[in-house]
Amino acid sequence: MAESAETWNEVPLAPPDSIFKLTAAYKSDPFPQKVNLGVGAYRDDDNKPWVLPVVKKATQLLVNDPTLDHEYLPITGLPEFTSAAAKLILGADSPAIAEGRVSSVQTISGTGANHLGALFLSRFYHWDGPKRVYLSNPTWVNHFQIFRNVGVEPVEYPYYDPKTIGLDFDGFVGSLRSAPARSVFLLHACAHNPTGVDPTAEQWKTIADVILEKKHYAFFDCAYQGFASGDLDRDASAVRYFVQRGVPLLVCQSFAKNAGLYGERVGALHVVGPTKEAADRVKSQLSVLQRSEISNPPSHGARIMALIMNDPELFEEWKRDIKTMAGRIIDMRRQLHRLLTEELKTPGNWDHIINQIGMFSFTGISPDQSKALTERAHIYLTPNGRISMAGLNSKNIRYFAENLDKAVRGEL
Ligand code: LMR
Repeated sequence: MAESAETWNEVPLAPPDSIFKLTAAYKSDPFPQKVNLGVGAYRDDDNKPWVLPVVKKATQLLVNDPTLDHEYLPITGLPEFTSAAAKLILGADSPAIAEGRVSSVQTISGTGANHLGALFLSRFYHWDGPKRVYLSNPTWVNHFQIFRNVGVEPVEYPYYDPKTIGLDFDGFVGSLRSAPARSVFLLHACAHNPTGVDPTAEQWKTIADVILEKKHYAFFDCAYQGFASGDLDRDASAVRYFVQRGVPLLVCQSFAKNAGLYGERVGALHVVGPTKEAADRVKSQLSVLQRSEISNPPSHGARIMALIMNDPELFEEWKRDIKTMAGRIIDMRRQLHRLLTEELKTPGNWDHIINQIGMFSFTGISPDQSKALTERAHIYLTPNGRISMAGLNSKNIRYFAENLDKAVRGEL
């Protein structure tokens, strides 16, 4: 007994996850006006999770389908799902798909896609030196652990400029230029997490130029397709442009946010190769890796998305649902901006609130101000000042704006 208790004495106690600990703290807080701006999960104007009407419809179709069983899916996933998912991100008319150059594998949502992509690179990429991945500073905190878990060391590249609360484009491009040739760069396809700051189309062009020049590899993470602009195609434009330019790349795709399927863990990894032969080899190895880790991906969420993406009517309905979510978030941005600039006359420039895009806004407030908001006003947000716009609604936005105003004035 005593011996087995000692077995784990050497294991250090890990801190709780910086994002999900906020959800737990929020849930256990009895304060009536508490606000959760932590995790990036959509809420409706009543602060309730929103089951997309199109998802309800597709679920009903599945429930009533007498041909469905609970057998294993193929190791690389449900083919109707992976092929539709590839078209969604790369474009239905993508020459890469027509030429059979895309290896698509169903994954455990975006995190699983990042993991499988990182694991695949760790094993098979032509590393010229130490295994390294360049991550934007800042990035989604989980990227660090995902790459370290597979023996790839993260290095940061400049991305966010606190002075402008915008993109440090020169720093970013400088880093692309100075990194050793054939480096791996992780890029957020749209709605950058945590900053909400995306490059413009013109800037993406320069980024692609330098990546091609330096023969770098683009590791795209696309967790918010549709959430940035409300338009699935527009939010995929950087990825499609890179494919068109012939940049070697992979894309990690999640359906958590744009379909509200958080718990179903439905996602995909797409590796775009130079030839069909290369893609077949890549897929064979992805299949081996997948088998050793999860054997076969889960069927339920993939079936829902396969139905939605392959049925023209359901697909149109999904697009409308996405517009509803993106529209509400854009509206919250406008209202928050108006409250801060016109009503409260909060010191500083708040234009970034409406210029940033997607689920998150990087407010530019300090860790101390974030802490004060949490401790004194029961408003939960990450210490870096990121807020999930989806946590704001017509009932709590004034409370949030007033407390943000006080925090900025040092009066909280
Ligand atoms: C977030 O950044 O809040 C989301 O992507 C949820 C997560 O898994 O961290």
